[in-house]
Amino acid sequence: MTTFGRRITFGLIGYGAIGALRAQALEHTPGVRLGMIAEPVDERRAAAAAKHRAPTTRALDEMLADPQIDAVVVSTPPNLHHAHCVAALRAGKHVLCEKPLAPTLEQARDMVAVAQACGKALATGFNYRFYPGVMRARELIAQGQLGEIVYVKSYAGHPGGPEFTHAWVHNPEIVGGGALMDNGIHVADLTLHFLGTFAASCGLRSESVWQFAGSEDNGFVLARSEDGRIGMLHASWSAWRGYQWRVEVCATKGALEISYPPMLLLHYERPDGAAKHGRRRLHTFPVFQIQERLRSYRWTVVQSLIAEQVDFVARLQGKTFVGATGADGLHAVELAQSAYRDVTVAAPVSHTGHFEMVIPFGMCNHRNFSNANPSILRDRFYANPAESLNSLNTSGQAFGTRFYAKCFRFYWIREDCVLVNHIVDTLRS
Ligand SMILES: NC(=O)c1ccc[n+]([C@@H]2O[C@H](COP(=O)([O-])OP(=O)(O)OC[C@H]3O[C@@H](n4cnc5c(N)ncnc54)[C@H](O)[C@@H]3O)[C@@H](O)[C@H]2O)c1
Repeated sequence: MTTFGRRITFGLIGYGAIGALRAQALEHTPGVRLGMIAEPVDERRAAAAAKHRAPTTRALDEMLADPQIDAVVVSTPPNLHHAHCVAALRAGKHVLCEKPLAPTLEQARDMVAVAQACGKALATGFNYRFYPGVMRARELIAQGQLGEIVYVKSYAGHPGGPEFTHAWVHNPEIVGGGALMDNGIHVADLTLHFLGTFAASCGLRSESVWQFAGSEDNGFVLARSEDGRIGMLHASWSAWRGYQWRVEVCATKGALEISYPPMLLLHYERPDGAAKHGRRRLHTFPVFQIQERLRSYRWTVVQSLIAEQVDFVARLQGKTFVGATGADGLHAVELAQSAYRDVTVAAPVSHTGHFEMVIPFGMCNHRNFSNANPSILRDRFYANPAESLNSLNTSGQAFGTRFYAKCFRFYWIREDCVLVNHIVDTLRS
């Protein structure tokens, strides 16, 4: 990408909660100058002007027309990301956009395509990649200490209620969903960061706690990479233990557990593959623990934003980087939104094995299916497919579409994909 022989000038779009931290971080990012802040709300613009030396503007066009601005950070609410990123890319700026990249897959795909067409860098603000526990985990994996990754299991949660920082956070028109698209999108990214791309996914969600229509307070996703490794993700807005996120990476020669807060990394070593004879090493990050006590968690956030921006500059200079690209932002939205499809059929890994399918529980006949094991189900389907389908139909109406679900694996249906397709069509209709 571009080589800069001078400091890179950044514009900042949006001076809200995270924008204020971004401004602080931009001022402390080596090789970077904060060139302008765009913010339409008068009080926030005044606060920005009082705190930073950069000029402020209410008109985004003024910033985008300024040839001195090389790149922008977009920290506006998610429903504005597409418009702001596309305008900036078309104005010849590189873009680092806050998470989630966009509330819809269509918008996210378009943003990636526009960046490509304009020859500009698009990055997604997944600053958890730059938390010290995650950085240390990345090093251990790169050193080959873990062996082959088997699965990645992630969780992000907070209690909701007073923890909702803005009303727009639970407005699906703005965010594109609920917990999975808000705090969950960070760990969706970390899951894929460690797992690689996924070939199949499915998920479920529930909005029974806060009851914001279309905005889940608990969402669960399962994914599988092409070579059979598994990713599992849970995002919650009804956490009993307060704000927390965790990522567990299980591999053939060991395992890692990254958690925050407090920032910790547990490394289980078992070089011979035997769990019993392994060693457990705890990595603490005392500087972060002390600074958070003395200042606040915001100190850690700002450090991660600085590290992310340093990494983005490296990318602009054509160096190696580990930050999330626009495509990574798109994949995280794809993973999170797997839970938003009522019936998800996982693509088979091979055509000689088995076929998997997920049926929302409310669409199943409770009496026949809830306690049955897969082999009984299979036999029942083979014995009388027509009646089974009929039973699914009838109970679909009787039970409605509640959020509970059961995942049934139908093995050995490989010669009879017509039946599977028929079941799926029936459920969708
Ligand atoms: N990386 C993180 O950990 C993290 C944390 C919080 C929020 N976020 C993300 O950052 C984004 C912003 O969140 P927030 O909490 O700061 O929201 P916020 O509502 O506090 O701030 C958004 C700001 O954008 C401004 N804005 C609106 N339209 C604008 C325009 N046309 N031009 C310039 N500014 C405009 C608003 O006036 C507001 O000040 C969201 O996408 C959110 O998901 C990321």
